[in-house]
Amino acid sequence: MAKILIADDDPTILSLLNKILLSKGYEVHLAEHGGVAEKKLKSEQFDLLISDIKMEPVDGMQLLRKTRQMRPHVGVIMLTAYATVATAVEAMKEGAFDYIPKPFKIDELLETVKRALDYQKSISEQVSGNSHIEQKKYFGNIVAESDQMINVCEMVKRVAPTKTTIMITGDSGTGKELVAEAAHAFSARSEGPFLPVNCAALPETLIESELFGHTKGAFTGASANKEGLFEAAKGGTLFLDEINSIPHGLQSKLLRAIQNKKIRKVGGIEEFEVDVRILAASNRNLETMVKEGSFREDLFYRLSVISIDIPPLKQRPEDILPLAQHFIALEVDGGEFPTMDNAVLSILQNYTWPGNVRELQNVIQHCLTFLSDGKITKETLPSKLIVSYEENPGAQSSALTGEFEKGKSLKAFLRAKEKEYLKTVIDTMGGDKAKAAKELDISLATLYRKMPEGEQIED
Ligand SMILES: Nc1ncnc2c1ncn2[C@@H]1O[C@H](COP(=O)(O)OP(=O)(O)OP(=O)(O)O)[C@@H](O)[C@H]1O
Ligand SMILES: [Mg+2]
Repeated sequence: MAKILIADDDPTILSLLNKILLSKGYEVHLAEHGGVAEKKLKSEQFDLLISDIKMEPVDGMQLLRKTRQMRPHVGVIMLTAYATVATAVEAMKEGAFDYIPKPFKIDELLETVKRALDYQKSISEQVSGNSHIEQKKYFGNIVAESDQMINVCEMVKRVAPTKTTIMITGDSGTGKELVAEAAHAFSARSEGPFLPVNCAALPETLIESELFGHTKGAFTGASANKEGLFEAAKGGTLFLDEINSIPHGLQSKLLRAIQNKKIRKVGGIEEFEVDVRILAASNRNLETMVKEGSFREDLFYRLSVISIDIPPLKQRPEDILPLAQHFIALEVDGGEFPTMDNAVLSILQNYTWPGNVRELQNVIQHCLTFLSDGKITKETLPSKLIVSYEENPGAQSSALTGEFEKGKSLKAFLRAKEKEYLKTVIDTMGGDKAKAAKELDISLATLYRKMPEGEQIED
């Protein structure tokens, strides 16, 4: 049965609450002021704290803060006289679960206690190791809890068995390669090789011979015939990552290779057939490149018969916890699963994740390296997350979910949204504001006006 601590300097209230809660089978402990409660919380585990707000010498607010620090898993309910309801609301902002105004009805009290205990239980199940077993792995190795990611998986499932090329778009670290791997794994070619090639990493002069191979003597240094990646991927899938980096001159050859399934080696005369499926990814908007004339339109259409866009992690906060658990499970590899306290969860959910899922994976590795007493606590997080949380707590909830926030006008909301989008575009363009302005179809001056210099650095 749940263990409840009650702190109140009014003995009548203490004994009344004691009687009510005992009669329901709870284990009840009493403290006549905040100081006593604090000592008990230090030495024993409780599930719930019910605390009066006005107490001497340590009051309810101080006790609440101490409890949140020491025992973040303990739910807190504040007791308050009607006159101090404002303080009670303040307390909820500081992490109290709810408040009960005095005088209270017994039923209401019991109902609130039950809700608080149920909530704490579900949270600790979510964040402790127990639930990683039933963690949602939706498709292959792709963890997907949000509707957006489930949609991505549905798409992959549908198009994987077909022969079409697939274009995968998304910011860095969103999981493009993972999605490409899944599309390969669920195709008839799964027995064949999956070859990822980062086009941006190949020097321009070598891309052609890397992709199509070369014959002996084709150029200085070509001392023997060489097989290209198209040949090496025979019977399987070739994943052309960062395809936006393919030089313009090579794009028509690539188009031919995809369309006719035939290639010619550098220095070779004969064309020969290759049996590969092409998947491609780009971290630049290819449509814009087509407009600019740096990417061939016909190749663009050929590649993006089907296109799958993976949204940034901050737009799908539901995926954060399951992903974190997935990475913990990968790291501990069957060993002891550390618990994660609520404070950590709030911080993870509040962060903007410019490096997306890859960054989350790194953060989890960081936490596991600095585990405190076998637990993932706030102190084990990289400091940039803490700083971002302290500067802007609740950023995620107000700006992105569009939830009602008291006192926030429509104008203020739209402004926040606009800033968010501007930031994303500027980041996507690698900080190049002129490019961002072009992409946004506004003048550079307008961009500067909407986004003063100082504000861009703040995240
Ligand atoms: N939904 C997901 N479920 C599980 N793991 C994921 C998911 N998304 C990404 N990852 C993991 O995050 C890391 C980054 O993903 P990946 O390399 O596929 O991203 P990317 O979009 O190709 O990044 P880049 O643009 O930098 O090449 C990988 O370790 C990948 O396994
Ligand atoms: Mg990649």
